[in-house]
Amino acid sequence: MTEIHTHPVPKEVAERALLTNDQYLEMYKRSVEDPDGFWGEMGKVVDWIKPYSKVKDTSFDKDDLHVRWFEDGTLNVSYNCIDRHLPEKADQVAIIFEGDDPSVSRTITYRELYEEVCRFANVLKEHNVKKGDRVTIYMPMIPEALFAMQACARLGAMHSVVFGGFSPEALAGRVHDCKSHIIITADEGRRGGRLVPLKANVDKALEHKDISVQNVIVVRNTGNDVPFTEGRDVWYQDAAAQVPAECEPVEMNAEDPLFILYTSGSTGQPKGVLHTTGGYLVYTTLTFKYVFDYHDGDVYWCAADVGWITGHSYICYAPLANGATMVFFEGVPTWPDAGRLWQTVEKHKVNILYTAPTAIRALMGAGDEFVTKYDRSSLKLLGSVGEPINPEAWEWYYRVVGDSRCPIVDTWWQTETGGIMITPLPGATDLKPGSATRPFFGIKPQLVDNEGNVLDENAEGNLVITDSWPGQMRTVYGDHDRFYMTYFANYKGKYFTGDGCHRDKDGYYWITGRVDDVINVSGHRMGTAEVESALVAHHDVAEAAVVGYPHNIKGQGIYAYVTLNHGVTPTEELRKELVQWVRNEIGPIATPDLIQFSPGLPKTRSGKIMRRILRKIAENEYSNLGDTSTLAEPAVVEELIENRQNR
Ligand code: WTA
Repeated sequence: MTEIHTHPVPKEVAERALLTNDQYLEMYKRSVEDPDGFWGEMGKVVDWIKPYSKVKDTSFDKDDLHVRWFEDGTLNVSYNCIDRHLPEKADQVAIIFEGDDPSVSRTITYRELYEEVCRFANVLKEHNVKKGDRVTIYMPMIPEALFAMQACARLGAMHSVVFGGFSPEALAGRVHDCKSHIIITADEGRRGGRLVPLKANVDKALEHKDISVQNVIVVRNTGNDVPFTEGRDVWYQDAAAQVPAECEPVEMNAEDPLFILYTSGSTGQPKGVLHTTGGYLVYTTLTFKYVFDYHDGDVYWCAADVGWITGHSYICYAPLANGATMVFFEGVPTWPDAGRLWQTVEKHKVNILYTAPTAIRALMGAGDEFVTKYDRSSLKLLGSVGEPINPEAWEWYYRVVGDSRCPIVDTWWQTETGGIMITPLPGATDLKPGSATRPFFGIKPQLVDNEGNVLDENAEGNLVITDSWPGQMRTVYGDHDRFYMTYFANYKGKYFTGDGCHRDKDGYYWITGRVDDVINVSGHRMGTAEVESALVAHHDVAEAAVVGYPHNIKGQGIYAYVTLNHGVTPTEELRKELVQWVRNEIGPIATPDLIQFSPGLPKTRSGKIMRRILRKIAENEYSNLGDTSTLAEPAVVEELIENRQNR
């Protein structure tokens, strides 16, 4: 274990930062004591068409569960991200596109962004997209992905972005759930020098009988030949050439939906997390400004994919709402080699870099030369998101990447929270490697034990949030009961995060990881039940149980216990086939790392799989399995330990 050293706020950072510690403390106090007053004022970071007169109206009670912010105000998100900057920033670069191929890059100014988004919106309008419709976006990391999302926001249509690494199966499930009549995709994507067959995947997804999609808008990206269905499929560039580069933004109510983003939970079926317009924009805009201490002219780079919430909040919306200049990266950190991030920092003089611990750990392993050979003197601030960052990786990021000059903001949040919830502020917070530190304005975290008893001060427990904040999700799309059951049924009147957490004597929060059946593989969130359903869909599999186990690079790896059908012989071939099967069913991010063929699984007498035991065996911590007396067949456990895969 690395010893934890506190890093005080450096003097130069405190001097240029937007907020000092005293200001943080004062604003935080006000935000939780007088949320109406605080957010009433902060709501002004965005432009409203009709100003709000009400600020907060929320309840976490079973019979009256609702979350409403600024509910009588009206605005348009795309207007806030683009049009309002035009008088002063039309010629400022909004997006610096950095291609997968390091020799490809281009810039897009705010004026150009305006024209591109308007054209995209007009193409969507011509294909019958109206306010309230759901538009599925299945795109590579090219600027058109942003244009498409912004175009939906301009028209008041909800986008549902499906990560380009997901399989046709996973795509089909998401299209079906929200019943989109239109999909936006590209011929192919590029990632790490490889081509991703996006259009072919869409065609496969559309073979499902229960989906009725009228149009597929296809952006020509690689230019290679792809299947094309006349009448249904539309080449984006051809359509865009026929429409004007102007399109009025639609006036939206603060509580009109902005987007749906599917995320994994404890059951096999992903949930459509719904975010709305006003509160989400206010919350993401404000967190971006203070957490990244954004000053006009800074070059910001979030190396996430738009398929995840980080890409929604801190690529597509908040940076643009703040009138920022940002790098938009098509590639991966390890291609062509482990120097790619630092080469890009040098090339575009990046000031703020926001990435995931999994990338940091992978690059750390490749050696310091890949970092030190590039000029990183432009960097001012580093950020981390998506999973706990271990102190070793934190120190390396700090010392080697940031030359011990740049604070690290370790930001804890979730798809459901819309924006950053627990985080340092660069000019205010002394840092402790591995801790997300303190709550952002308006956030009231609390630790409770499994019975719901509130734990004081220095404690470890389940992390809940006791009051609403503007960026909170509003419902599970089409299933308000599930919203209640998932987040509010465990602890009455409180939002349950699903995370375990330790709070130290200084009031700093240390997220320890999920306490439910969600695992976090390379910062990608996944439900173990999803992987299990994929496995049991194979004709040779009778039963499967999936758990996470500690993995050096990925944070968590996927460990699958598989019981085969009677008479099927466990072979290496079958193991490989199952791995490939899961990749096809869900996508490469769900690739099982270890599969153990197990004739039986440990179950209670009522037939419930005892995951606690499976987790311990996968973690190689089987010496203390706790109480196994309730097992139906205790001998199963011996067999599992004997044949464990993680040695
Ligand atoms: C985990 C990603 C520790 C956590 C924005 C959470 C983190 C889940 C951190 C949400 C962090 C995210 N430290 N753990 N800084 N950030 N997590 O919905 O378990 O993809 O519940 O949102 O990631 O993942 P999601």
